[in-house]
Amino acid sequence: MTTYEEAYAKLEQYGQLHVLRYYEELPETEQAELLRQVMDTDFSMLTSREAQAGKSGTRGVIAPLAAMELDTIREREAQFRQTGLEAIRAGRVGAVLLAGGMGTRLGSDALKGMFDIGLTKPVYIFERIMHNTLDVVKESGAWIPFFIMTSDKNHAATTAFFAEHAYFGYDPAYVFFFRQEMAPASDYDGKVYMEEKGKISTSPNGNGGWFVSMERSGVGRKMRELGVEWLNVFAVDNVLQRIADPCFVGAVIAENRASGSKVVRKAAPDEKVGVMCLEDGRPSIVEYYELTRDMMDAKDEKGDPAYNFGAILNYLFRVKDLERIVNNNLPLHVVEKKIPHLDSNGCPVKPQEPNGYKYEQLVLDMIHELESCLPYEVVREKEFAPIKNRTGVDSVDSARELLAKNGVAL
Ligand code: UTP
Repeated sequence: MTTYEEAYAKLEQYGQLHVLRYYEELPETEQAELLRQVMDTDFSMLTSREAQAGKSGTRGVIAPLAAMELDTIREREAQFRQTGLEAIRAGRVGAVLLAGGMGTRLGSDALKGMFDIGLTKPVYIFERIMHNTLDVVKESGAWIPFFIMTSDKNHAATTAFFAEHAYFGYDPAYVFFFRQEMAPASDYDGKVYMEEKGKISTSPNGNGGWFVSMERSGVGRKMRELGVEWLNVFAVDNVLQRIADPCFVGAVIAENRASGSKVVRKAAPDEKVGVMCLEDGRPSIVEYYELTRDMMDAKDEKGDPAYNFGAILNYLFRVKDLERIVNNNLPLHVVEKKIPHLDSNGCPVKPQEPNGYKYEQLVLDMIHELESCLPYEVVREKEFAPIKNRTGVDSVDSARELLAKNGVAL
């Protein structure tokens, strides 16, 4: 059992002694719980130089990475589709839904997947995702093992929602939930916030830890037993995305790449999407704010913009390559967020504006750890309708409009 002295020493080392401010007034069980949480928490991230500066690490040398464009995909579609369907039918393709995020920008108290985007009937985000996957189940005649990452904050609600809605028609025998890890959240000086008098404020540690969490939870073993060799990983909020898309899977297999990334042609050179590139000779994604004017103006041999394809958070990973990189440390991203906490009088506060940092690892950084990646172009209006905000860009409104254009009844 952890002693007060051990916890005190650890907190002192990281300048976080305020965590024990209410210790004396806590009931014994909560005291023990807090000491345990102190010992389980990694505070090192709060004192890193990036964290103090409020930004992520520096980048290597960036160069263009050619995408497989629509014309090539159309020419080779029959071959890709057949290869993809064969892999799906053999049980070699699984899907991983990243649903551990807090979806704070949407401003709903319920979790994002439970958000109802219907107009004349309920249409939940999770429902759209499961129905999109069912399209491929129907086409291939095979159930695709479907893994769902949750966090401590939403696990119970997510599993209950799926059960309540009979898995939206999916076979529950092929649905597997696992939880991601949590990380402390801090103020701008790197001091952790307290969520309760006996509890450090934590938040999900980003979507980059999904494979590690899958392995730790034992779900990775299940995946291997099922013979899964490829994992299609995607965000919860794109209600138009194609999941385990046989053509995409077939193209990545045919090109013998370690990974693939669905991309859309940028609407403008300065559009706010991360673009596929090479970084120090390896595949990578450069954030829109890291693109220089020269990079925006650079052209490829066809005269098209050289950094023209934005990633839409729909990746395919080869499991044996992930196994090789599972112990690699991914960079830490410091993200400004609204963090509920106790104020200096010990009263709970739910801020309306960002008030500190969360610390996240991101799935896009896994791409850079791998030897190769196929950027695979898809038609934006058909496959990209992310819901990040309530209104405006990438919102419930814009997604509804795109769904209607694609004939989805709402
Ligand atoms: P976002 O970057 O949109 O983050 O996640 P978010 O935390 O859900 O939303 P905001 O920024 O607070 O509004 C992209 C995808 O990654 C998942 C999300 O659920 C979403 O599918 N994600 C994000 C996780 O699974 N875990 C995390 O820790 C963060």
